[in-house]
Amino acid sequence: MKRFISTTTPGMAVGLALICLLGVYAPFALAQKPAKAAVASAHYLATEAGHEVLANGGNAFDAAIAVSAALAVVEPSSSGLGGGAFWLLHRAEDNHQVMIDGREIAPMAADRDMYLDENGEVNRDLAVNGPLAAGIPGHAAGMVHLAKNYGRLPLSESLKPAIRLATEGFPVDEKYHSLMGYRAETIRRWPAATDALLVDGENPPIGHLIKLPDIANTLRLIAAQGFDGFYKGELADKLVKGVRDAGGIWNHADLAGYTIKERQPIRTSYQGYQLVTAPPPSSGGVAIAEILNIVEPYNISTMDDAKRIHVLAEAMRRAYRDRSIYLGDPDFFEVPVRLLTSRDYAAGLRASMRLDKASDSNNLAGFEDSPKGTDTSHFSLIDTDGNMVAATLTVNLPYGSAFMAPGTGFLLNNEMDDFSAKAGAPNAYGLLGYSANAIEPGKRMLSSMTPTFVLGEQRVAVLGTPGGSRIITMVLLGLLDFIDGNGPVSWVSLPRIHHQYQPDEISAEPDALSADQIATLQALGHTVNVRERTWGNMHGVMWNKQTGEVEGGSDPRWPSGRAIVR
Ligand code: DON
Repeated sequence: MKRFISTTTPGMAVGLALICLLGVYAPFALAQKPAKAAVASAHYLATEAGHEVLANGGNAFDAAIAVSAALAVVEPSSSGLGGGAFWLLHRAEDNHQVMIDGREIAPMAADRDMYLDENGEVNRDLAVNGPLAAGIPGHAAGMVHLAKNYGRLPLSESLKPAIRLATEGFPVDEKYHSLMGYRAETIRRWPAATDALLVDGENPPIGHLIKLPDIANTLRLIAAQGFDGFYKGELADKLVKGVRDAGGIWNHADLAGYTIKERQPIRTSYQGYQLVTAPPPSSGGVAIAEILNIVEPYNISTMDDAKRIHVLAEAMRRAYRDRSIYLGDPDFFEVPVRLLTSRDYAAGLRASMRLDKASDSNNLAGFEDSPKGTDTSHFSLIDTDGNMVAATLTVNLPYGSAFMAPGTGFLLNNEMDDFSAKAGAPNAYGLLGYSANAIEPGKRMLSSMTPTFVLGEQRVAVLGTPGGSRIITMVLLGLLDFIDGNGPVSWVSLPRIHHQYQPDEISAEPDALSADQIATLQALGHTVNVRERTWGNMHGVMWNKQTGEVEGGSDPRWPSGRAIVR
């Protein structure tokens, strides 16, 4: 079994020590720019779309538009024009770093109790299936914002590959087919979705060519009219009519009023590396900073695997507890970001941890009324100027709400389930939430999506992944592996473990833990839940600033993903 997280390469450490001790200069000039560009995404056609736009004179931000639009066509299970996204940007010329927040928002007619039935219980069907589950999408507005403020090319150029894919078609891959296996029954409730994504009402076989001419038309409208092409006029009419005819609550003002937000990333440091990562309304950056601050003094790289997992799980437990209570849309709820990401606060949390015993989540201060009790896409890219983008895009569960408004070609998200539909009631990922993340008109639902940069003196990482509540812990394990000296192929394939406060257990991928490690963790008092399936779909790139070399890695768990350096 691959070591859970490997340690620093000994040769590298000795070499660096020698250079310092002997006072010799590095034998190579510091390369200021990457020798090549790298794009890693969940679909080879989207990766190629990014490279095509780079080859045509686009920068990383134009390429990000091309990849986002291509994924919206070829991976409808995971992201799309009916969904939302976070794009984390690094502009090399002035080191400008920002997160473009294209998260969905609750429609103005939404209300706190909209998913509760007459007994006050959450109606899970309404919360995840059909138009009532959909927030107002931000994906299209995000692409327009990127083109206007950061790109070099007009949208008509950056959207070209996606328009071609939608028009000429793309073959059904394993992921499309496998996730459709879970969602076809729900898709069949809505004729437009059935006609576009199924064949004679059935899950199309691998290799079957899918064409989505309505998406091509929508992309053309966006290319010609920008924001208005999606949020006003003919397309907005189709969306509002389609949603309302099927029992939804959108209106024109919801679409016309959608706004992109530019957010300052969360910044923290760990073992000499700077982290730049997703701020609220993502919970990811805050949680990762909190976990790293808690584990920092332990020097986990040198611990044996079971101890290391114990310490990480204890830190994860505490960060996810805080997530459930304090995280929400910062425009609606004052998220105590500085407190939660401070080292003093982490010291207090660390003081409640023991190295020889698991805590009990129920004994952490929480809310009185707490009960006992994929899909999304990420890509990472870097261009030859050193501009970087980490973007996580989502429609939430596989194939989103399964609802498609007639004549649009894309599914709507079911992101409303990322709100807390009822205080302390778990959502589809088992995540809890309270008033910070309660439904309010115009509010962004809390996310776990965590596009991240890790900046070292010599090496830079760009990474992220889908995976619902587990995104945060996957990105954490990936960045620790990078800091330990490994490259993207290693981060994306690492076996994964996870703790999210409630349920109070360490979940592990099928081969992540040995029998001995499980026994040690159980002896410490942990419940270990070895899952039947793996999770996540991580795509990362790395730039070695000294050699100029770039590398990419695509998660082996889904074969359609591809990292290409060119
Ligand atoms: O924003 C979020 O946290 C979720 N909607 C992400 C969903 C996801 O990653 C599903 N992927 N497997």
